[in-house]
Amino acid sequence: MILTTGGTGYIGSHTVVELQKAGFEVLIIDNLSNSNAEIIDRIEQITGIRPFFELLDLKNKEKTFDLFKKYPKIEAVVHFAASKAVGESVQKPLMYYENNIGSLLNILQAMEKYHCLHFVFSSSCTVYGQPDILPVTEKSIRQPAESPYGNTKMISEDIIKDFAVSNKSFQAIALRYFNPIGAHESGLIGELPNGIPNNLVPFVTQTAFGLRPKLSIFGNDYNTPDGSCIRDYINVVDLAQAHVVAIKRLLDNKNKNNFEFFNIGTGKGISVLEIVKTFEKVTDLKLNYEIIGRRIGDIEKIWAETSLANEELGWKAQRNLEETLLSAWNWECNYRKTN
Ligand code: WQD
Repeated sequence: MILTTGGTGYIGSHTVVELQKAGFEVLIIDNLSNSNAEIIDRIEQITGIRPFFELLDLKNKEKTFDLFKKYPKIEAVVHFAASKAVGESVQKPLMYYENNIGSLLNILQAMEKYHCLHFVFSSSCTVYGQPDILPVTEKSIRQPAESPYGNTKMISEDIIKDFAVSNKSFQAIALRYFNPIGAHESGLIGELPNGIPNNLVPFVTQTAFGLRPKLSIFGNDYNTPDGSCIRDYINVVDLAQAHVVAIKRLLDNKNKNNFEFFNIGTGKGISVLEIVKTFEKVTDLKLNYEIIGRRIGDIEKIWAETSLANEELGWKAQRNLEETLLSAWNWECNYRKTN
């Protein structure tokens, strides 16, 4: 049994689908603070298998320990549960440290107590800040975080590393996501931000659907070919499949040491304006957008060097930008039809 914390979330739900397709039994725990239980029905619709579910806030240490007592078959944990809005973290840093660090400590201590010692962690390219050299490899230095959110990812990686050093039986892999976008081909699960989206692609699809009057593009005066920021946009199903590969690596004892980390990206840098133009091309829609000033905290450009994940994990992004943006649009249309 694989425990996925935050398994009703965007990346979590897609990973549950891929874990079930790979034959794993899955238990989801979530506090539903940023998602809803209907996602479980949709996962079952996609795979025909209903995952186990427990409503649980990992900040509650006692309940977290009780979970492992109730489910002794948990053999590995994929840890997604965390707050992840960069801007919000600047406004509410204490909530971010309490939630993201507190939850991590509780899950790790429960794993230690119940001898569940395989752990995949949802990390982020945000640990690299603005790299001096691109593409960014796993050897690139981590830079001081630009936000409390980013800092929780840095601190989390250090906690996991220190625990791995202290306990050789504990086996961990951190996956450093670049920018996850898109949705499952069924259109039944996808990115569902609460309120006004922070991230680019859901803002694009909501604008295209008419929920937002226009998309604001934060700056076109960067030192990039078209002046807009560059990111490495990774299809969420490709990303989900990277978690399955990581879990198998740990359960099959194929990992080279007990704390590994991998860049999970496409290896290609795409600008904001290229996202807009590609979306317009694949949907044959005209997007209403306005270029305004830079957003504080944005880095100029980052994309991944992915050879370590390609060679060590045997994982490579399969889905291209066109089909990925179309999947995001398909999800937006499907979701709005019934909500
Ligand atoms: C991408 C680009 C914006 C919205 C963050 C977190 C990262 C991860 C993904 C959680 C930037 C531009 C955006 C808009 C815009 N989060 N943009 N108009 O900031 O690269 O990464 O989200 O795991 O950890 O740091 O993603 O989608 O917010 O922005 O012009 O309305 O799109 O300036 O250049 P980001 P993003």
